[in-house]
Amino acid sequence: MGPLGQYASQVHGYWTFPKLEGEISTRMKFRGKEKLVWSLNNYLGLANHPEVRKADAEASAQFGLALPMGARMMSGQTDLHEKLEQELADFVGKESAYLLNYGYQGMVSIIDSLVDRKDVIVYDSESHACIIDGVRLHMGKRFVYPHNNIENLRKQLERATKMCKETGGGILVITEGVFGMSGDLGKLDKIAALKKEFSFRLLVDDAHGFGTMGNTGAGVGEYLGVQDEIDVYFGTFAKSVASIGAFVAAPREVIVYLMYNMRSQIFAKSLPMALVVGALKRLELIRNHPELRDQLWTIANALQKGLKDRGFNIGNTQSPVTPVFLNGGPQEGANLAHDLRENFNIFCSVVTYPVVPKGVIIIRLIPTAIHTLEDVNYSLEAFSKIKAKLDAGEYASGKFVDVKTS
Ligand SMILES: Cc1ncc(COP(=O)(O)O)c(C=O)c1O
Repeated sequence: MGPLGQYASQVHGYWTFPKLEGEISTRMKFRGKEKLVWSLNNYLGLANHPEVRKADAEASAQFGLALPMGARMMSGQTDLHEKLEQELADFVGKESAYLLNYGYQGMVSIIDSLVDRKDVIVYDSESHACIIDGVRLHMGKRFVYPHNNIENLRKQLERATKMCKETGGGILVITEGVFGMSGDLGKLDKIAALKKEFSFRLLVDDAHGFGTMGNTGAGVGEYLGVQDEIDVYFGTFAKSVASIGAFVAAPREVIVYLMYNMRSQIFAKSLPMALVVGALKRLELIRNHPELRDQLWTIANALQKGLKDRGFNIGNTQSPVTPVFLNGGPQEGANLAHDLRENFNIFCSVVTYPVVPKGVIIIRLIPTAIHTLEDVNYSLEAFSKIKAKLDAGEYASGKFVDVKTS
């Protein structure tokens, strides 16, 4: 059944594959009861924005979901796809962009096509699965550096440089803008500074940074003042853009190369028109309504400050992603999260062993622009109460909560 599947019979439908019902919002139903939801990456609250819903509905009515009926290269090219690509490129300050049907598959394919067996990949150890899986396809050498450890990255770059002298290849460094579990940032400024000493190209997965970070929302590169040093920028529509799809942005010659080599796009149907038109509308709102980002940060800052003031360990987050690190085993984690979900009516993601090391419980909260300060205060009170119970050992006693019957 695999490392997670082995628990399926105990957790399916409650901890895994839970059904959240109703319109996407901060209040949704879970098993028939309304919950305050802190687990959706709807950062800017666009998922259910009236203008977005209208654009989606009108585009679906006009184009249906089938159009265009083929891969971009063969019969799926349209003016609107190109328009969205140019607007995305302009937004993140790159010359050109290309749409991807899914972020995950797109990233795997970007990595696969950018390097060959002569090249060396150097990547952060906590990279998202899409990066890890792209690296797995690589036929040449790869060196991993411990998460955000720049001294070690330098060592790996020294090794990679030596290796490339022999092979005649180049070096691709890959990291994330915002690390999605912990919320800390890739040290893009420090990595970019290494370009003075080493010759490499930088690919950044900014799935959680796009729309949330930087003055205009152009991501972590903008936030840290090094957007120009990112050679290949990747963003997904699954977070701030609140849709499906993704994009890669880079100099024109790199994008043309990717268009003609990325197998995930050459051998797959083009992104449907309704999603393209919907993404254009969302991008317009992200560009023209900075107050959405301000509101997101008001909520994120209040939540993070409140948690810290109450003595919670929220790690090194510098983004809206808000992890709460607690000490305890899987049983305590399950009992605690069950209490939060059933008695405080707070729905959030909880991660315990075997996903994280033994003894660690991580509660992951995702603030959005549509949460309110009342939501924050209510949740902070609830967190203080569950922490007191955890510290008093209340969650350790008894068995696992039977989520099927409770
Ligand atoms: C860091 C990161 N990269 C890539 C992806 C994959 O994007 P998509 O959902 O568009 O496949 C995700 C999750 O959605 C992510 O969190």
